[in-house]
Amino acid sequence: MTTQLEQELATYTAANPKSEELHNRATEYMPGGDTRNSIFWDPFPLYITDGNGTTLTDADGNKRTDFVNNMTTLILGHRPPEVVLAVSEQVNHGLSFPAPSPSVVRWAELMCERVPSLDKVRFVNTGTEATLNAIRAARAFTGKQKLVKCEGAYHGNHDAIQISVVPPLDQAGNAESPDSVKAFPGISETAADDIYIAPFNDIVAAEKVIREHADELAAVIVEPVNGQCGMIPGKPEFLEGLRRITDELGILLIFDEVIAFRIAYGGAQDYYGVTPDLTCFGKVVGGGMPVGAFGGRDEIMSMWDPRGGSATVQHAGTFNGNPMTAAAGVSTLENLTPEKYEYLEQLGEYLRSKLRALFAELEVPMGVTGVASLFALQFTSTEVVDYRTFATNDKNMLKIMFIGLLNEGFVMSNRCAGNVSTAHTEEDVDAFVEAVGNVLRRAGYA
Ligand SMILES: Cc1ncc(COP(=O)(O)O)c(C=O)c1O
Repeated sequence: MTTQLEQELATYTAANPKSEELHNRATEYMPGGDTRNSIFWDPFPLYITDGNGTTLTDADGNKRTDFVNNMTTLILGHRPPEVVLAVSEQVNHGLSFPAPSPSVVRWAELMCERVPSLDKVRFVNTGTEATLNAIRAARAFTGKQKLVKCEGAYHGNHDAIQISVVPPLDQAGNAESPDSVKAFPGISETAADDIYIAPFNDIVAAEKVIREHADELAAVIVEPVNGQCGMIPGKPEFLEGLRRITDELGILLIFDEVIAFRIAYGGAQDYYGVTPDLTCFGKVVGGGMPVGAFGGRDEIMSMWDPRGGSATVQHAGTFNGNPMTAAAGVSTLENLTPEKYEYLEQLGEYLRSKLRALFAELEVPMGVTGVASLFALQFTSTEVVDYRTFATNDKNMLKIMFIGLLNEGFVMSNRCAGNVSTAHTEEDVDAFVEAVGNVLRRAGYA
């Protein structure tokens, strides 16, 4: 007897022959046919030819409603006319220069004006570089080496932080003071020794870990909304507690807002009213172009100031603050008014409440996590608040839902996380929730 997953996969394969063909070609030149594991799925990913508003078109001409928005980046949807215009105008003036452009000044001004803790900012090209530089800043500023991060948090693809990202539970130690587990082979042996792990959203346990190692700590780095475990909002008392404890002990607090910047006009720190020392950005702030940024208090950021040959920390990057990304970033930020955030928050809440009603009606052991425009399906009846509760997800059901939704004409991330953009409407959400119901009914929930 074929399983539900096999049936969904058969439908998927039959509908996407050109993507399969492209994937077969791709595997000859790229390992696994891919250059970005986070967007891979078995048996093959879709190859996209066009994005417009909320619609993605693939190589076979199939159109689907996109709830991924390039991993939360495209907050105004695909190809917003203002951003396309700004980028097209920049194309006519040059793609990159060996000197700063006026647009980068405006971009930095917009960031510092809206994010409470930003006295100064520096631009890079990925969120990975943003966390790398913020960690370096914390080490240089404090003269200390070690970090605390939360279990199950992804902060980018570099050694210092690729620790305890998705640790196998049989290697992860106890829940209150988890072990540091290297994410994969190849990471420096010392990286795991330089980092202590705390559970997300448990301030009592986190405080113990921080106090135990306080003398060696440069920083505590935290994602105010844990993206990888399903857009889990930090509890206010957790984030406020981290601020209180790090302030008391003279340890820097780094917010990784690569995703969470999306939740309010001034980012997650504005939403929660908690002011970190340093913040990392990515995704939204580049308007769809490659981007990262980090910034914070003047006192710390002045280490990068090269005036008079006095920079303490060196920082180069051929494409840092390039005019193409700056044009897209400026245009996106200028379009992201407080009203747009209100709309996103309402639409996100509408989506989450409709999903909860559906799960109750079908009596399915599922939940939904998220905040503002962010959401994720959780295939468990356990309330998901951290990595260990996230680990109770039924992975087979997740795969059925992910492929089933593609068959229904909707795209989520391969972890079944999603987000709404300003281009989405209540009608899009209604159709999405109906599609989730259709997949569940096919899986036997009626
Ligand atoms: C919270 C967080 N930090 C850092 C990164 C790394 O950003 P990038 O993929 O641009 O290197 C990501 C990427 O998804 C992220 O979600």
